[in-house]
Amino acid sequence: MTALRIAGLADAVGVARLHADSWRRHYRGAYADAFLDGDVVADREAVWSSRLAEPDVGVTILAEDGGGLLGFVHVVLDEDAVWGSLVDNLHVSHHRRRTGVGGLLLIRAAEEVAGRAVSGSSLYLWVLEQNRAARKFYEAYGGLCVEKAAVSPPGGHPERLDGTPAKLRVAWHRAESVSPAPK
Ligand SMILES: CC(C)(COP(=O)(O)OP(=O)(O)OC[C@H]1O[C@@H](n2cnc3c(N)ncnc32)[C@H](O)[C@@H]1OP(=O)(O)O)[C@@H](O)C(=O)NCCC(=O)NCCS
Repeated sequence: MTALRIAGLADAVGVARLHADSWRRHYRGAYADAFLDGDVVADREAVWSSRLAEPDVGVTILAEDGGGLLGFVHVVLDEDAVWGSLVDNLHVSHHRRRTGVGGLLLIRAAEEVAGRAVSGSSLYLWVLEQNRAARKFYEAYGGLCVEKAAVSPPGGHPERLDGTPAKLRVAWHRAESVSPAPK
């Protein structure tokens, strides 16, 4: 059975490894091969160790079962004056994709926003333009593509990008509208 819980500092390495594996599989063509095949694990470990040491900055939710970590999502409450709270990362372990874990995490992230954001319950995220599977997923949960922008390089290092990739802002005006479309 899949269980959700809030992450703590002890989870940093596990989250970082899943994050790096997901980037290696899905961000090639947007992030440089040299970064994905090189520093990405160390980069993610540094980012997650820092984030999870400061729980006030955002909330990270994990999905787990008896076999370990299945996925995670990170929410930064009240990040943007116009678009609301940011869903900063949502990644599901490769062997458990398309089994409902991403949907559980996205809905739980929306519940965090609805319950804790002070600026209202709108939320948004950025998805790589090339990431058609994730775009389909957000579309299936009612997200609207509202804007296109240039991808910022991870850690601010321009050489970590492959060319000039684009990202799309996907938004929900109310957290309550994050729900799967009827089939
Ligand atoms: C995108 C991601 C988070 C979705 O999570 P998931 O657990 O695989 O998705 P779910 O099983 O909850 O899918 C729910 C619905 O979304 C839609 N969907 C999900 N993946 C899809 C795909 N590849 N193609 C088309 N529709 C898709 C479907 O409607 C699906 O319902 P169905 O399986 O009953 O048809 C996950 O696949 C993932 O981690 N991908 C790699 C990392 C990534 O791209 N993260 C997003 C960063 S912005």
